[in-house]
Amino acid sequence: MAMKSYVGALLLLLSFSSSINAQVFNVATYGAKGDGSSDISQALLSAWKEACASTTPAKVLIPGGTFALTEVALDGPCKAPVEFELQGTLKAPADPSLFKTDGWVVFQHIDGLTMSGGGTFDGQGKTAWGQNDCAKNTNCRTLPTNLRFNFVTNALIHDVTTLDSKYFQVNVLGAKNMTFQNFHVNAPADSINTDGIHIGRSDGVNILDSDIKTGDDCVSLGDGSRQITVKGVTCGPGHGISVGSLGKYENEEPVEGVFVTNCTIIGADNGVRIKTWPASKPGTASDMHFEDIQMDNVLNPVILDQGYCPFNQCKAGVPSLIKISKVSFKKIRGTSASQVAVKVLCSRSVPCEEVEIADIDLVYNGPEGPATSECANVKPVLSGKLNPAACAKVVS
Ligand SMILES: *[C@@H]1O[C@H](CO)[C@@H](O)[C@H](O)[C@H]1NC(C)=O
Ligand SMILES: *[C@@H]1O[C@H](CO)[C@@H](O)[C@H](O)[C@H]1NC(C)=O
Repeated sequence: MAMKSYVGALLLLLSFSSSINAQVFNVATYGAKGDGSSDISQALLSAWKEACASTTPAKVLIPGGTFALTEVALDGPCKAPVEFELQGTLKAPADPSLFKTDGWVVFQHIDGLTMSGGGTFDGQGKTAWGQNDCAKNTNCRTLPTNLRFNFVTNALIHDVTTLDSKYFQVNVLGAKNMTFQNFHVNAPADSINTDGIHIGRSDGVNILDSDIKTGDDCVSLGDGSRQITVKGVTCGPGHGISVGSLGKYENEEPVEGVFVTNCTIIGADNGVRIKTWPASKPGTASDMHFEDIQMDNVLNPVILDQGYCPFNQCKAGVPSLIKISKVSFKKIRGTSASQVAVKVLCSRSVPCEEVEIADIDLVYNGPEGPATSECANVKPVLSGKLNPAACAKVVS
């Protein structure tokens, strides 16, 4: 018995000591100065290169202070797990024309990445937002995303902040088993295209206990998002937690397995949303569940829109060919800032299937009267208390 617990304690100690004893590669050792103006990209790349080559767990440390950083790509594969500990603030160049690529700090092809430290990635996006003309110009230049994770697996990103990105704050592509926890996103409501965390073509991504204040979708899930959990996230300002938009491009992969639970959406344009383009390529999105969501003054608390067509960049009359099935909206309560609090507008070519609506309590306090709802091309299964009544108005 005593022996057993001794062995247990030893194993526990060993498993913790791997991170305690990680060899530390401090950027200051490589010449980085936290003076807010000297570019540390060479120092960071050197520290990363050595950490990544270490055969035992390693840590790249950016200590307290403000460090100027032009764009960097931190590449794997690495020989052992690597931690990126950001204690201070990294500051991007404000001028977007100084960027050669669409990423500011890019992590790619890394298995076993941890990010921590309480620090901030400051994208200094203000100038770029003023130059963003993507709403009108379809060939607009893609501005840099603060943090890109390309083909990163078994990763934990926690206790860091991304601030004022020029474009998406975080982009996740090709991830497997990646968790964001106590992760902070911050930008003003009028910052353009600053999606908080965008995920595409990834399997097993969790966003937990995080807060996202930004100018576009708090979380957006693009094609090929599979087994995505969003739990305990506070969102707003922003455009809500969105699946899509889907169907704009050729060869999109299915969306499958989206679980959004215990989230709070405050003062946002949308709450929970699924959006697909009209006149789309064929595709599927299924097994998407939104449950236990608090809405506080949200313009469109629940919205499934298969005719998503901002700035008339599409043939609006031609129905979407993205087939949506197995969707549930449950235990959604709070206040709506518009009268139509629940919209489930499916495609007339491929009506939605297996949609469930249960326990909705959304209040609207406008002059037009109480909250209402709209449906198109869907026959949802209803249960529990429904305020507003589901599909009060059926449109086509
Ligand atoms: C997922 O990644 C975390 C963080 O690196 C790791 O601790 C965990 O073991 C991984 N899970 C699986 C199933 O590989
Ligand atoms: C729900 O999320 C909040 C944070 O927004 C957290 O404090 C609370 O513990 C969570 N509750 C459950 C049941 O997960």
